Amino acid sequence: MKIAIINGPNLNLLGKRETDIYGNMPFEKYFDGLQKKYPQVSLHYYQSNVEGELVNELQRLGFDYDGIILNPAAYTHTSVAIGDAIAAIKTPVVEVHISNVHAREDFRKLSHVSGKSAGSIFGLGLKGYELALQFLLSPEK
Ligand code: DQA
Repeated sequence: MKIAIINGPNLNLLGKRETDIYGNMPFEKYFDGLQKKYPQVSLHYYQSNVEGELVNELQRLGFDYDGIILNPAAYTHTSVAIGDAIAAIKTPVVEVHISNVHAREDFRKLSHVSGKSAGSIFGLGLKGYELALQFLLSPEK
C-alpha cells in the first residue's frame, strides 16, 4: 500500500509558524511517528512552496499510488491548476487542513480542491492526516 502526503506552501515551517494556529510539532517529526505507527504502509512525504511543483507531484504519483493526502495550504483557495490536477489523476485524494478554515477569514472558505477530492478534513490539527490515512486504508475508499 503506497500513500503519499503532499503539503503546500509554508507548511515546511510547521512548529515555528503561527504556533497558536498550527501547533508546535515540525511535520517531519509527526510524519516519522505516523510511519512507525503504520509500518504496513509505505508513506511518501513531499512538500513544496511552488504551485507547479505540487501539480507535478500529483501527476507523478496519481496513476500509481493508492491514496494521496493533500494539504495545499494557501493554494487551496486560489489554485484552479491543483483542482484540475486532482480531477485528472486516478488516485483518490483526501484534502486536509490543520486549522478550521471555516472559522477563519472568509477567503479561506473557498476551496478549489474540495469538490475534486474524495473528502475533506479540517480543524482537527495534525490528527487530520492520520484520519485521512485511516480512511484511505479502509474498504470504504
Ligand atoms: C491550512 C489553511 C490555509 O488557509 C492556510 O493558507 C495554510 C494552512 C491549514 O492546514 O490549516 O497555510 O491549509
